[in-house]
Parts: sequence; structure tokens; C-alpha cells
Amino acid sequence: MPQQLDVELSLTINGEPVSVKACSPAMTLLEYLRLSGRAGTKEGCGDGDCGACTVAIIGAGADGQPHYQAVNSCLIPLGAVAERQVFTADGITQCHIPKDAFVKEPVTVDQLHPVQSAMVETGGSQCGYCTPGFIMSLFAAYYDGTPDDLSVEGNLCRCTGYIPIRRAAQMVAQAAPQDRFAEQLLSASTVLSPLAYTTDNNGHSEQFYRPTQLSEVLDLMQQYPDATLVAGATDLGLEMSWHRQHYPTLISLEAVAELKQIQQTDEFVEIGAAVPLSHIEANLHGLFPSLDEMIHWFAARQVRNRATLGGNIGTGSPIGDLPPVLLALDARLRLAGPSGERTMPLADFFTGYRQTELQPGEVIVAVQIPQTLTPGATRRLTQSYKIGKRGTDDISIVAAAFVVDVDSRNTILHARLGYGGVAATPVRATAVEAFLVGQPWNAETIQAAKLLLKEAFTPLTDLRGSADYRKLLVVNLFEKFFVEFS
Ligand SMILES: Cc1cc2nc3c(=O)[nH]c(=O)nc-3n(C[C@H](O)[C@H](O)[C@H](O)COP(=O)(O)OP(=O)(O)OC[C@H]3O[C@@H](n4cnc5c(N)ncnc54)[C@H](O)[C@@H]3O)c2cc1C
Ligand code: FES
Ligand code: FES
Repeated sequence: MPQQLDVELSLTINGEPVSVKACSPAMTLLEYLRLSGRAGTKEGCGDGDCGACTVAIIGAGADGQPHYQAVNSCLIPLGAVAERQVFTADGITQCHIPKDAFVKEPVTVDQLHPVQSAMVETGGSQCGYCTPGFIMSLFAAYYDGTPDDLSVEGNLCRCTGYIPIRRAAQMVAQAAPQDRFAEQLLSASTVLSPLAYTTDNNGHSEQFYRPTQLSEVLDLMQQYPDATLVAGATDLGLEMSWHRQHYPTLISLEAVAELKQIQQTDEFVEIGAAVPLSHIEANLHGLFPSLDEMIHWFAARQVRNRATLGGNIGTGSPIGDLPPVLLALDARLRLAGPSGERTMPLADFFTGYRQTELQPGEVIVAVQIPQTLTPGATRRLTQSYKIGKRGTDDISIVAAAFVVDVDSRNTILHARLGYGGVAATPVRATAVEAFLVGQPWNAETIQAAKLLLKEAFTPLTDLRGSADYRKLLVVNLFEKFFVEFS
């Protein structure tokens, strides 16, 4: 790490180098864009739900190559975009528009970017509030050849309706991009160098560190015991933007190569804690069907481009969607701290509401998921389910994941039932698992298991669902699993 603390952050916005001084590193990129006069990027919800604030950054994709990635600028802290290239809807036309000039000289239709032209041609915009966000989601997808419904699943439109926007996506899906942005990707670097930025915020010093090695992360945590780790900032970003939470020292994990690897051995797959979910989605597809399914329903593209597994576990939330899947898969955590490394089953990690076994100065390094079948088993039955108030981009009421290994006679040799949203922590139904082992995988066994599941948890009633509804889901989701796999 540099010894000297930097007092400015540099980044590139729409091709223009920008130097940021005297700004809190926890200020969101959206706030900075708008305060600095780049008001084409809009704020809707300010919490990652509507996509109005979507911008594109260049970052490493699942293949390690530079890609445009749609992200929510209302969640991403300024420190996290240091040295990055940021693109906004008012900077992607064919001609260069200086940031103060566009009002004086309106852009003509032939100067628009192809995704902008498509939105104009299909009538994809009325009030236009959501439009810059849709444009940037489509822009990022355009260069990956994937403009479709999924590329705009994180963008809400309240007045135009989605059919014209879908048509715009279909229109640009047919084009082969060969323009200055495609060329820019070829020469872009995704390597992030170490950063140590400091500023004075109303008499409070604030620091943002972006080390590149795990040992440096651990040293910094020793040096600043009150520091906060930040990975994708999709959870922490909310604290920054909505709750105006003050973070004197942030330690970013996103440039630490050791935390960004996915490795496979004969026994397990190890996923680095700072690997974004979109990389897991692309690189491990088909290996763990229950993980594929849950990631599919996890937030939307902009969030999955940033959110990490370490962050999902690190929040200690009882409604994190991935812990139930990882519990069912018997995942283990690799932790590193001042006294070395240790591993532990995820099942032992959560100790109470948002309480974990993580000790001061410790960091989650990786998650190991075994890929071996129980000895004697011939088949693995596995699936996950998420029940929320709406299909996509919503928090779970209950999430569940099941793994059942059976032998050739259909006898259950191994069972794991992981749940979220039913207790103070993500949790396994261990008594039901014990009952299932040795039983035949048939309707009678499931009926008996349902009686046990009814009494397994005492969930709470909250805004999302009543305790009774949750209890019902615990039982019915397991029955659904049986019906699908019987
Ligand atoms: C619009 C929106 C939709 C969402 N939808 C979902 C959803 O469908 N399902 C779901 O489960 N969650 C959802 N979330 C919550 C959030 O995206 C996830 O919890 C995500 O996995 C957090 O990862 P992150 O890298 O962004 O974590 P960050 O925000 O960077 O960090 C979260 C916490 O984890 C700690 N942390 C991060 N990495 C580590 C590490 N390696 N070791 C120790 N501690 C660490 C941080 O200190 C912090 O306390 C949503 C959030 C938003 C804004
Ligand atoms: S303002 Fe709604 S997602 Fe950012
Ligand atoms: S055009 Fe008005 S919200 Fe989409």
C-alpha cells in the first residue's frame, strides 16, 4: 500500500478525466454526478430498486476481459469508481457533448447512440425519467450481444409500458457493434491499483483504502479496528445513500486478487468472497442447480454485477438468499484473521440476529462447496425456491433450498433443508433431515416430514408476511420439491 495518503480520486466520466478532491469517498457516484452538473443521470428510489440511476462502468467480466457493466450509481461509493471509466446516458452519443453544452445545442437524431435511436424509434420513452437508466442497461448489454428482458430487469418504467422498450432491445440485439465504444473496450484495462484516499469531511477524517493483497487487508484491519469492509456495496451503499451512515474508514475488497478467484478441485469448488454474483452465474452455470436458480431470482443485473457472496454472508441477514442454498450444499467458509486462517461449516457461522462467528480483524476469504455425492448414492435431488411479493428484484419472504441424495432403491442417504426468513438466522431443519435419512423417498415419508416441518420454526410476522404464512411456506416448499422430483 502507498505510505502517503492521496487527497484526490481520479476517474474518467464519458471520456473526460476527472479529479475529485474534498469529497467523501462514501458519497455515492450518483450524488457526485448530479452535484457536478451531470444531471442526465436520474435519481428515482435511491436504493437500487428502480434503475433510473444506471450508469455503465468498464470492469472485468466473468471471462476476465473488459466489459461494460450496468451498475446502480445510487449505491456505488465514489471510492469504488476511482481509476474506472464511467459512462452515462448523456455521454454516449456519436458526437462529444461537453457537460454544459447540451442545452444550447440539442443533439440531432443521427447523432444518437444506436440504443438511444432504438428507444426513439419504438417510442420507448414518455416522461423520460426512467429512460437514462434503460439506455445505460441496454448500452452495456449491446456490447455483450445480450439486449433482452433480463438486461433491463432492474429498470422500472411507470408510464411508457414495457412493450416499446422490449422492441428497442430487440432492435439493437440484431446490430453488430463496431464503434468507438467497442474499440475502447479493446484497449481498456481492468487492473485496479492500490488506493489510499483521505479527506476531511466537516472536521471528520475519512479514508478509503483499496489494497490489492489479503495481507494488506488484514494489516489495515489491525491498524483501524473500526474500519468497515466493503465489497460490492449493494448492501452498504444503502446505508450510505439512505441512512447517511458515516464510515470513517472503508477497506474495499474489490482489487484483492486472492478474493476474486473461482477454483475447482476434485472435492469442492471454492468461490472467492469478492467474486461478483454475475461471474458465479456465468462461470459455474449447471454445476449447482439450486445456486443457479437462486441467483436467477437475486435482485437484478445491476446488483448482481456488484454483489458478492462474501457480502451476502457478511451481512449476517436472516433473509439473505444465498445462505439457505449454501447451507443445503454443506458449504464451508475460509476465514483469515490476525492469527491465521481457519475454515468452518457455514452452519456454525451464524450465531444470532445479524451476529456471526467472524472475529474482530477477520475477513471471509472464500466459500467452499463440496461437489461429491454421498457414498452409495446414485442421484442427487436438489432445488431452491424464493417466495417474494413480486417475481423479480424483491426480498424473500421465505427462501428454501433442498439437497437429497438417494441410492438406487430410492432410499434417502443424505438430506439438507436450508431456509431463510423463518428464524433470526439462515437455518437448517436438522431434526427433519435426521428423520429423512434411511427413509424411502416417497409420499408417506414426505407426509411425515411435513408434520415435523410444521413445528420446526417459529418465524416472525412482519411487513412482508405473517408467521402463519411463513410456517405454511416452510412445509409447502418442501412438498413442492418432492412433487417436482418424485
Ligand atoms: C436493490 C437490491 C436488491 C437486493 N436483492 C437481494 C436479493 O434478492 N437477495 C439477497 O440476498 N440480497 C439482496 N440484496 C442485498 C445485497 O445485494 C446482498 O446482500 C449482497 O450479496 C451484498 O454483497 P456486497 O458485495 O454488495 O456487500 P457489501 O454491501 O459490500 O457488504 C455487506 C456487508 O458484508 C460485509 N462484508 C463484505 N464482504 C466481506 C468479507 N469478504 N468478509 C467479511 N465481511 C464482508 C461488509 O462489511 C458489510 O457489512 C439486494 C440489495 C439491493 C440494493
Ligand atoms: S435511483 Fe433507483 S436504483 Fe438508483
Ligand atoms: S418513461 Fe416515464 S417512467 Fe418510463
